[in-house]
Amino acid sequence: MGRLNDRVAIVTGGGGGIGGASARALAREGASVVVVDVDEEAAQRSAASIAGLGGDGAFFRADLAEEAEVADAVAFTTSRFGRLDVLHNNAALTDSDFLTRDTAVSELSLDVWERTMAVNLRSQMLTCKHAVPEMVRGGGGSIINMSSGASLKGDRTRTAYGVSKAGVNALTMYVATSHGKQGIRVNTILPGLVITDAVRAHLDARMLAGLGKATLTPYVGEPDDIASVVVFLASDESRYITGQMIAVDGGMSAHVGLAGDD
Ligand SMILES: NC(=O)c1ccc[n+]([C@@H]2O[C@H](COP(=O)([O-])OP(=O)(O)OC[C@H]3O[C@@H](n4cnc5c(N)ncnc54)[C@H](O)[C@@H]3O)[C@@H](O)[C@H]2O)c1
Repeated sequence: MGRLNDRVAIVTGGGGGIGGASARALAREGASVVVVDVDEEAAQRSAASIAGLGGDGAFFRADLAEEAEVADAVAFTTSRFGRLDVLHNNAALTDSDFLTRDTAVSELSLDVWERTMAVNLRSQMLTCKHAVPEMVRGGGGSIINMSSGASLKGDRTRTAYGVSKAGVNALTMYVATSHGKQGIRVNTILPGLVITDAVRAHLDARMLAGLGKATLTPYVGEPDDIASVVVFLASDESRYITGQMIAVDGGMSAHVGLAGDD
């Protein structure tokens, strides 16, 4: 028996590195999974990989910054699978060209700020808005938002990204508080560095070793390190955990590192 048999899940940004891994991990535990992504080909590939595992997967193309498209994605899920139990709110703007335009505040253009808030934060509010009534109808559910360690600290760059993820932290507590008594649990994962295929393609071995100094673990995390926590938070094993921010970062946030070699 899988831990998520008979459950239905949406994974947003499920065509990407972490979303793809969590879609497959949820399916391995028995959930039917709808991969929602603005990149239709990537979503299709991810759904096919679920089918390749013998799982039950489907895909839906949507720009989750747009409310009508979010509503359509949720309606597709309930008409295809009859219910909705799990939402992994994982989509975000990660395109490296876009991120280089996300600068210190003094140089930040309003279009970068607005698009970041729309894709990273408004989308998570909209998916919660449309998923919660379906989950309540089915007797409850689990929402796993995706934040970042960058939401708890400042930096000289990526101002919009960090602030959008700080909004995700607050959204998590508000939705958890509003709908907890209706059986909805909401938590957010704060990943540190996670080496997806896309990240790996931009790093050579020396850069990877340098980044490895930031973690306390002997290795830098991979998408499956996040996916296993998504499965735990989706399952009844975590039934008394809600409204929480959970760092999954190899201890990156747990030390100062001033010595330079730790
Ligand atoms: N990889 C890391 O090191 C890391 C660290 C901290 C947080 N995160 C967070 O983890 C999540 C997944 O990141 P990833 O590294 O797997 O990135 P990724 O680029 O592989 O996946 C992101 C996915 O979101 C989709 N997406 C983008 N805009 C969308 C929109 N408007 N509507 C629908 N889908 C859209 C993309 O097409 C892509 O498939 C993100 O929320 C990211 O902020 C990642």
